[in-house]
Amino acid sequence: MAGEMRTVQWDPERHQLRMIDQRLLPERLEVVSYQSAEEVADAIRLMVVRGAPAIGAAAAYGLALAAQRASSAGPEQFRRELEQAAARLNAARPTAVNLSWALRRMLAAAGSMEAASPAEQAAVLLEEAHRIADEDVATNMAMAAFGAELIDDGDTILHHCNTGALATVDWGTALGVIRAAHEQGKNVRVLVDETRPRLQGARLTAWELEQYGIPYEIIVDGAAGHFLRTGQVQKVLFGADRVAANGDVANKIGTYMLALAAHENRVPVYAVFPSSTADLSLSSGDQIPIEERDEAEVLGIQYHGEPVFPRGAKARNPAFDVTPHELITALVTEKGVIYPPFTENLARCLGAK
Ligand code: MRU
Repeated sequence: MAGEMRTVQWDPERHQLRMIDQRLLPERLEVVSYQSAEEVADAIRLMVVRGAPAIGAAAAYGLALAAQRASSAGPEQFRRELEQAAARLNAARPTAVNLSWALRRMLAAAGSMEAASPAEQAAVLLEEAHRIADEDVATNMAMAAFGAELIDDGDTILHHCNTGALATVDWGTALGVIRAAHEQGKNVRVLVDETRPRLQGARLTAWELEQYGIPYEIIVDGAAGHFLRTGQVQKVLFGADRVAANGDVANKIGTYMLALAAHENRVPVYAVFPSSTADLSLSSGDQIPIEERDEAEVLGIQYHGEPVFPRGAKARNPAFDVTPHELITALVTEKGVIYPPFTENLARCLGAK
């Protein structure tokens, strides 16, 4: 991470997947090893690894692990075990399309050499997982170069959730743009939405910004409107978990309110994502499945060491929301910056992916 290790990384000696346990940051930087697809599926569900591109790469390696384990089985059993593992990984989280995108790509790689032995297919699947991981980093660098052009010297940027190296294999999407602008010598500062309830902003984005030496301040999510209305923000940047054909963007819960407040105050809003996050099979964001997570994530916080809520309190916990495309100024991808009308321009730019 940040040049030392990737968020999702293969250990070639032990034939294991290694991932940073993002639940422990910023307190501890710990790396956990995984030997089976079941373990990787659990890690995705429990958010040891999170962020759309990172869970796509993790799922690809999870399937490579399943193939490795089944490589001495007969061809039919091998195929069956692969499909079962893919189904299990795919069910881990529903909103980020990178998960099913990566698994489809892996199954297609195995399918293209069905006549080969299971051991040969397992080797090809590991190569494909490496390709998915390496491409993610290259894609993020390309996106960062396009996005950094949109950032001006002196900008204060409001950022939601975590979209940095931790949310990807390395470098990041929206945070990667901010990092690239900073490395170009632009004087940028970041207002970091803490991002209730899992606090990806306060814990992970702030931790990354510390490493990169980019000035930042954490704000509570409800303060974003105030900073936008009083002219203290020049740009709003966030990532995406799934983008529909009309440019509607599903992203971390709270993104919609942030985009509404930015639009109302004429502050440009940019969603930054790789083409693997686009789901052009969906005509609008209304069709994107929204994950609802356990209410314990909302109710678990404490104040001065005491529970915050009355005993028996109930909570709702949608993990994502959809920002309608009308609120978005431009979409930043590795193929370039896409402006409205999004339906035509997204299809033209990404349709042939
Ligand atoms: O629930 P998470 O932490 O996996 O949600 C992550 C986000 O919403 C990110 O903004 C999104 O995946 C894009 S980050 C490259």
